[in-house]
Amino acid sequence: MTIAQQSKRLDLSEMAYIDRLTRVGFIELSADAPRCAGIVSRSAKTSGNGGDKGCGFWLLLGGINKLCGIIGYIGNRDAIPEIIAGLRKLEYRGYDSAGVAVLAEEKLWFQKKEGRLAILEEHLEDAPYSNIGIGHTRWATHGVPSDENAHPHVDCSRDFAVIHNGIIENYARLRQRLIEKGHTFTSQTDTEVLAHLVEDCFRGNLLTAVQEVVGHLQGSYALAVVSRKDPHKIVAVRKDSPLVVGLGEGEYFLASDIPAVLSRTNKFYILDDGEMAVLTSEGVSLLNAKGNGITKEVFLVDWDPHQAEKNGYPHFMIKEINEQPRALRDTMRGRIVDNRVDFSELKLDKFLDRVSKIFIVACGTAYHAGMVGKHLIEKLAKIPVEVDIASEFRYREVLWPQDSILIVVSQSGETADTLAVLREAKRKGIKVLAVTNVVGSSVARESDAVIHTWAGPEISVASTKAYSTQLLIMYMLAIFLAERRNVMDSAAIEDMVQDLAAIPEKIEEFLEDVSSVEAIADKYSQASSAFFLGRGLDYMLVLEGALKLKEISYIHAEAYAAGELKHGTLALIEEGVPVISLITQEDLEDKMMSNIKEVKARKGTIIGVTKRDMTETIRECDEVILIPVVKSIFSPLVSVVPLQLLAYNIAVARGCDVDKPRNLAKSVTVE
Ligand code: M6R
Repeated sequence: MTIAQQSKRLDLSEMAYIDRLTRVGFIELSADAPRCAGIVSRSAKTSGNGGDKGCGFWLLLGGINKLCGIIGYIGNRDAIPEIIAGLRKLEYRGYDSAGVAVLAEEKLWFQKKEGRLAILEEHLEDAPYSNIGIGHTRWATHGVPSDENAHPHVDCSRDFAVIHNGIIENYARLRQRLIEKGHTFTSQTDTEVLAHLVEDCFRGNLLTAVQEVVGHLQGSYALAVVSRKDPHKIVAVRKDSPLVVGLGEGEYFLASDIPAVLSRTNKFYILDDGEMAVLTSEGVSLLNAKGNGITKEVFLVDWDPHQAEKNGYPHFMIKEINEQPRALRDTMRGRIVDNRVDFSELKLDKFLDRVSKIFIVACGTAYHAGMVGKHLIEKLAKIPVEVDIASEFRYREVLWPQDSILIVVSQSGETADTLAVLREAKRKGIKVLAVTNVVGSSVARESDAVIHTWAGPEISVASTKAYSTQLLIMYMLAIFLAERRNVMDSAAIEDMVQDLAAIPEKIEEFLEDVSSVEAIADKYSQASSAFFLGRGLDYMLVLEGALKLKEISYIHAEAYAAGELKHGTLALIEEGVPVISLITQEDLEDKMMSNIKEVKARKGTIIGVTKRDMTETIRECDEVILIPVVKSIFSPLVSVVPLQLLAYNIAVARGCDVDKPRNLAKSVTVE
């Protein structure tokens, strides 16, 4: 049984966030925490390395909403060095700006800078000595990376400072209301509304002000507030974004991640949704969502630094695979409204109404997402789409019909070939829409419109959560275009959007038990080559599956449209060759069966990845990995997960450097 299964059974409140599995290795509860036995679970191989072969114990906690880092300090030391040290522990996750705020002599002092922590540190000479403060590393979502958009954010009178992780969905409305009341905004962020709202709600008590603010918020948040008007406390609250309180000797810490303050304490309160914490130099009080005082158990954490960095996972890649349900939810957040796709953020929407042809251009994994995009946009929105690899597209004669548009897809937003295509298209007067994960990246800055995938920083070279969020954007875009062009009726659109919104749960369901993938990976890890087969959407997915396997396990892998097999590749099939066959499209099932039989006749081994209800297929496979039942059009969003896990587990079994595969870089900024 896997960790997730056990944890679910144990009904931890934090398990509600199983989409954001944070593994806390080797945890014990303190002696006064009798629920200890109920929450510790034996490790599974994919799930953590401390118990690689089942000897470790792991606790699953909610929340890997790792877009930004939060630190708070109150105690008897100088706050700023404590805060900077904590933020430094979170640097590995990536960020684009950083800031601190401290209270001293009834004044609020703050500093924030775009760029690395070292840049912020160069601007801290004037900082006063203080025992209380908050700090933040930002990974941009709303608004480009800049000094103004960095946290903390302050109100008009500079009495309150706020740091925040998450997304305030209704920030535009709140901001408008506050502007009408006379507040002045200095940034493009959603977070700044929080500072002005606290100012608006403050009537002498910071805690009650923050409680009132929370009543106005929609979205996800972990936030911390300090004020010179109520200066001896940090008030914090969380919803859908992790937050912990570290308990030291006469000093207390607030953090978005345990590793940030692990060098100071191993005792933590882990806040649940809606819970608030008030940190003073005397101690910590906790309140539930109703504002009533509560007591919580103290978690004792015993990690090594490497586990801490990856929240207990052995590699970033497996951490990022497990983050996918969260990443997908974040990418949908605020964009699915009343069962419709809302891309009001898109400045190009009027132009899209008359678009005659779409070109999608990208590299590698992003290109694979583009292939699915072509299929979906043509099927749902009835717009012709060409999809191409950037390094090819830029050297061919492209015929741009009038009113055509270019969509570039790039996780990093810095890939040289993709950028070159974007620039060339702009020179020709073509409108460019970017799909990227990095706010303020070159691709984002130079395009006419941007849709951000909110996957959070992706550290492993092998792209996983960035790909699935790119796929999701392709679905959303296709549905959005179909609606705007009136080619789908509203009932069908609502149905599709509902199905789409349910996908994160389906992935969670799959991640609950990945033992079949692990067993197959073990068995075939020494193969010298592997083939991948699929038809229709499944073909586009096996291209991605093969790329994953190649890049991290160094096994020679080829993906084929299954119908092509007999036109050449079949010659390579011999006894025992693993043929990973993705079969999720009911209308193509019979055709896939024929191809499977062709392989089996040559003694190849069929490793089928298929849906639980495709019984005929299941019978034909030598090995099988079952995914939850979803409508065939949505299966790519789920079926990619076993393909990623297969590659990951094989690479681990072969002892490969999973996160940093040989010869490859995360961002390919050369041609
Ligand atoms: O940052 P980009 O999305 O533009 O990167 C494109 C490719 O280099 C990238 O997707 C690459 O194929 C992945 N590392 C594969 O996992």
